[in-house]
Formats: sequence, C-alpha cells, structure tokens
Amino acid sequence: MKQFTGVADVRNFLHELVKDAIALKKNPFAHQHLGKNKVIGLVFMNPSLRTRLSTQRAALNLGMQAMVMNADKDAWKMATGEGVVMNGDAAEHIKDAVAVMGQYCDILGLRSFATLVNKEEDYAEQNLNDFIRYSGVPVVSLESATRHPLQSLADLVTIEEYKKKPRPKVVLTWAPHPRALPQAVPNSFAEWMLAADVDLTIAHPEGYELDESFTQGAKITYDQAEAFKNADFIYAKNWSSYHEYGQILLRDRSWTVSAEKMALTNNAHFMHCLPVRRNVVVDDAVIDSPQSLIIPQAANRVWACQAVLKRMLESL
Ligand code: CP
Repeated sequence: MKQFTGVADVRNFLHELVKDAIALKKNPFAHQHLGKNKVIGLVFMNPSLRTRLSTQRAALNLGMQAMVMNADKDAWKMATGEGVVMNGDAAEHIKDAVAVMGQYCDILGLRSFATLVNKEEDYAEQNLNDFIRYSGVPVVSLESATRHPLQSLADLVTIEEYKKKPRPKVVLTWAPHPRALPQAVPNSFAEWMLAADVDLTIAHPEGYELDESFTQGAKITYDQAEAFKNADFIYAKNWSSYHEYGQILLRDRSWTVSAEKMALTNNAHFMHCLPVRRNVVVDDAVIDSPQSLIIPQAANRVWACQAVLKRMLESL
C-alpha cells in the first residue's frame, strides 16, 4: 500500500483490513521483522494526542522507529504553491522540505487540518498531495483537511467488535461546540460507514449538510430524536458548516447528546473520536455510562494504524 488517505485506498480489502486490526490486537508483536531498521516520520502541523501516540505505538509494535516533528512549531515555515516568490516569512518550500524528509524516512505521516478560510483550497488537499508527490515514500494521513481515515478505521473496528446484528443502525449526529471545527471526521466517518455497508443515518441542524460526495447513500435528517429511534450506535461529532464554509450556525444545547435522547435508542453504544467537550457535545451521564465506547474506540487507534503500517511495510 503506497498511500492511506481515505477509504478509496482500501475499499478492495476493507473487510480484511478490519480483520487484520482485530488479529493484531491479539498478537501485537508478531510482525516485528517487517519494521526492523525502518523509520516512520510523523509530521504534525496541528496538535494531537491520540493520533501521535497510537501511531508511535503501532510503529514500535511493528519493530519500527518513529521520528516526530511538530512542524507548526519546530520546522521552518513552509511556502506552498508553484512559482511562489518567497520574500515573505516562509523560509523553505514544502516540496524541498518533503523531499528531504523522504530521504530520512521509509514512511511519512502528515497531519494538516483545514484552515476553514477557503473551501476550495482546503478540499484540494494541497499539503497532503505535496507529501505524496514529493516524498518518494508511502504516505499515511494523520488527519487531512477533509478526512481522518485512521480514526474511521478504528471506528469501524470498534463497531465490528460491539455490534449485535450484521447490519447495525449507526447514527452520526452533529453536536454543539464553541469553536468552528473542520468536516474531516464526519466526512470520513460517513464514507467509511457507507463502504462497510452499515445502516447509516446522519442527523444535523439545517445548514450543516456535508459535501454530498461523502454522504451519498446515507439517510439524512434534521430530526435528531427521530434519528435516535432504534439506533445501535450513536456517533457524536461537531462540525462547522460546509456550505456557509467554516461558520457556526447554532450554539445552544438543543443538539447535545443527553441520557433522555439515548433512551430513544436500542440501548445504543455512544462513540466519539475525542477530544470531547463534556456537557456541551455530550452529557457526563452518557459519556460515563456503561454504553460509552470512547476508551475502547481510542484504544483501537493502535490496531487500526498497525494494520495500515503493516501493509505499507509489506509493500516497501
Ligand atoms: N481523535 C484524534 O485524532 O485525536 P487527536 O486529535 O488527539 O489525535
């Protein structure tokens, strides 16, 4: 596998990838020979707790070394775009920096969030595409402007482990947040759930429609209570408006996930990718309940990543 940027990269073997992750959980160190003398470079242009640590742990389990750089703080400021005259504060061009990093590493990972200023630029994924184009090594997305595939694979593994019927009802519900957040997690969750063929409903207030290319095939509703009926999994996430790009259209608690709303479900499990704003996105009574999967879901980030890195190492 030469790149892992979205479900399209693994659609042909999605089921096997989920099974690989579950098998690696039972036998984490079985493939250490693959990573011997190999190095993964993890480049973060934005903060991270889970992605950073789970990817390092996955690499270590495979016998690899991991080098981590907070590019937003520790690297030279990078220019992007062809033909740019670099007489501002950027000291080097991303294509030079990425080509150099490709000399030091066997695999590169990149986290580069949406800026939420210009939709076309964010959805063009310039930074991620520059890493693929100029590094000369396989690239794994650690969350890009429009997708978070390592999170979505871990989410799918978690649903596979906890589902009680072959095709569970999974509800992705918008929830409030004080800050404008990108659409990467919900975009990604939708495309992975649709590829996995769960019964997906997306509930959000009017104005929060996602890019249809990610949600085509899902049921979409503005009625959160209706969506929750008979749900087996509730996946809460905030996102800013896609059409009124980057805007917050609703701030009150009317869409907060509460115990009363969870009572409408089929004793559903609660999921969130974390970090989460307690008692804004979801009430403590839900996130601390026995039905909450937030910790096993976060733990599965290691096995999901390890399954991806194993395939990349096998293709080196
Ligand atoms: N869920 C997730 O990606 O967490 P971090 O932002 O902490 O990596």
